[in-house]
Amino acid sequence: MDTEKSPNVSLSGLLERVEISAISSIKGTVSAILSIINDPGAGFSDLIQLIEVDPPLTAKILRVANSSYYALSRTISDVQQALIWIGSDTLKEIILTQKMSELFQDGTSICGYSRLQLWRHSLAVALFAKTVYRREFGEKGNNAYAAGLMHDIGVIVEDQLLHRDFMLLMQTMESAPQALSVAESSLFGYDHGRVGRALAESWNFPSELTEGIGFHHDPESAGEEHRLFVKAIFIADYLMFEQGYGYVAMPLPEREILQQYVRDLGLQGYALRLIGELVRDELERIEQKGYLSA
Ligand SMILES: [Fe+2]
Ligand SMILES: [Fe+2]
Repeated sequence: MDTEKSPNVSLSGLLERVEISAISSIKGTVSAILSIINDPGAGFSDLIQLIEVDPPLTAKILRVANSSYYALSRTISDVQQALIWIGSDTLKEIILTQKMSELFQDGTSICGYSRLQLWRHSLAVALFAKTVYRREFGEKGNNAYAAGLMHDIGVIVEDQLLHRDFMLLMQTMESAPQALSVAESSLFGYDHGRVGRALAESWNFPSELTEGIGFHHDPESAGEEHRLFVKAIFIADYLMFEQGYGYVAMPLPEREILQQYVRDLGLQGYALRLIGELVRDELERIEQKGYLSA
């Protein structure tokens, strides 16, 4: 972790740091699971192969599968059984979630920010976005879950690799609340969306996901084909912040923008309120059971 100096680290310089940091340890598994999610031809064997070459991941999956969270009537002793009993979609989510959670360990708490708060936020946005896709659009929502989980990956990169300045940024935000992207741009010359997009591009994430990460604060800048998807991530991010799953004190964008995106997606206020309640219950369950701790 760099705590020495950081202003004026260019975006490409920051990406070079990522590649030699602990952050890159998740790259292989995360990229592989994203390919499986986005490849209609991928089968069970691809998923099993991916898990079995990663013994710590196998152990975590079996621990999660056997946790009271799933309340299964039998003990799961191998990955194949886990796949059958939990289902491949849930298993994909568990893999992504476990790998991503590795980035949010330890760290400093400052001015209401901590990696744990950011992790809680990311999980909330992932669950919300996925539920919108499943309930409202009748789609699996695997990419929505992935985008939610990773949308603020740029923040964790800044926290880990530009640590001292990131802490200063959090202090500045507390004394003079402003949008995080604005504060980041004036200090670093880029914001966490830009960092996340650069990382997603260099790791060859699918374009839908790259745009979801890169433009979640500015969906109108996303390419036409992914704009509605990015707006869904914006809505999830906005509402989860508003409902207490934020990670930094900052003013939210004007409500009219949110309402416009809600109309663009053809969503109803009551459906979003219901989804908010479902996500809150789910997160409480997750927190109570200790499920998904790394
Ligand atoms: Fe963000
Ligand atoms: Fe966010």
